[in-house]
Amino acid sequence: MQDRIRIPCIFTIFGGTGDLTRRKLIPALYNMSVDGLLPDEFMVVCVGRKPLSTQEYRDSLLASVTSHSCYPVRTDIWEWLKERIHYFRMNLPDPDGYSSLKARLDDLDEKAGTQGNRLFYLAVAPSLFEPVILNLHRNRMVTNHGSWQRVVIEKPFGRDLKSAAFLNSVIESVFPPENIFRIDHYLGKEMLRNLMVIRFGNAVFESIWNSRYIDNIQITAAETEGVENRSGYYESSGALRDMLQNHLLQLLALVAMEPPISLDYRSIRDEKVKFLRSLLKMDDEAFRGHVIRGQYGEALLDGGKTVRAYRQEAGIDPESNTETFIALGIQAGNFRWGGMPFYLRTGKRLPKKTTYVVLEFKSMPEILYFKEYSGMQPNLLEIRIQPEEGVSFSFNAKKPGPGNEINTVKMDYCHSCDYENNTPESYERLIADALRNDQTLFTSWEEIEASWSFVDSIARSWEKETVSFPNYIPGTWGPTASDELLARYRHHWWNL
Ligand code: BG6
Repeated sequence: MQDRIRIPCIFTIFGGTGDLTRRKLIPALYNMSVDGLLPDEFMVVCVGRKPLSTQEYRDSLLASVTSHSCYPVRTDIWEWLKERIHYFRMNLPDPDGYSSLKARLDDLDEKAGTQGNRLFYLAVAPSLFEPVILNLHRNRMVTNHGSWQRVVIEKPFGRDLKSAAFLNSVIESVFPPENIFRIDHYLGKEMLRNLMVIRFGNAVFESIWNSRYIDNIQITAAETEGVENRSGYYESSGALRDMLQNHLLQLLALVAMEPPISLDYRSIRDEKVKFLRSLLKMDDEAFRGHVIRGQYGEALLDGGKTVRAYRQEAGIDPESNTETFIALGIQAGNFRWGGMPFYLRTGKRLPKKTTYVVLEFKSMPEILYFKEYSGMQPNLLEIRIQPEEGVSFSFNAKKPGPGNEINTVKMDYCHSCDYENNTPESYERLIADALRNDQTLFTSWEEIEASWSFVDSIARSWEKETVSFPNYIPGTWGPTASDELLARYRHHWWNL
């Protein structure tokens, strides 16, 4: 259980009527209220373009809280939070609205005793990041005199290294680095935080966590849903920028980095950056055949229902070449991992919603037991990130009876079973950390820079290639080329 946050603040959300605010941020604030985390001197101002009164806005939020909170709605707690939520109508790119917004915040500040502290949360389209930040600056809403003003930036942080660097320079020209919180919501997931404990808290794992004992490491982040109602954003992003550049590379960095010298966020970031910089870039030749992209086609389901192809979804170009799937085999040029492949894949319309890491250990020499006759399998360490959270280790044991037949057995730890409802959801954790000024679960500019530099090398190579889309059927594990990529090295995906 976390301690109550004792720091007064006005939490200002730009993008108050957007999906993220309704599905994640307000339900997270409600969960935090149930857990007694928020201070009394706390206000929420949601800024949006729609013509709504505060009362109408508050009323419209109840449905979101009911559907997206992990707790049932308790009237007394909802009333407590609702009273603190205010709506402010404004067209975000329009500079004129900011002085009235400032006046409204100052007024609330005086009434609620929030002492000038502001957490500005940018839950808006990336094209609005820059105007909002510059307008906050021009209207003297970021002063840092005797109070603090922090900014939380949602992804996507740029669409390549150049645009990300520009965005970063704009933000850093207004906010000091320690007040900038770049969100990657995967870092708030319980099992990502658990990864360091699993790795560095267990001698039995850490001593074999390298390419001498591990044959390959696989990371899968699969989703059953399609592009849903985010066509505009997704068309210009695709799986490479939407999932790989941020969530998958962050997860990989935590799996593969060196032990930090302390739990201080700077030490952890340093190690992540070092690892990300060590990833071998995809120059054209190395790249060929090592990165597979896919796009889902149409499918007829058993019940006669049709799943639309990506190109038929609303708002999508009927000739779109945007990838909804990516799989790649990559290597890190460092001592721990030299020569060992990491396989990463992510996609929409795959068979399940699941995220996991598999460490496949090297096989024993076939001297006493032979795979073909005995059923011996490589040892696997599976780290399940979601929906179930846990760790399991599979190893070989003898089947009962006279022969030498082998059974693969599992030691299994289910984290979510032991701590059901007691682990905060990603956004609760991240909002609480931003209020407490803890940067540990946020990404630094150096991490973003290193990820984009790697991702740009893939995007550049893609520009020279032609693709033939669609190339996978919804409900399957992506294009066959993804299986062929691993088969080339006598590996195969572990589909958990
Ligand atoms: C978001 C992506 O960052 O992560 C979405 O933009 C994706 O496309 C989502 O669906 C997945 O998050 P989670 O937590 O459901 O795995």
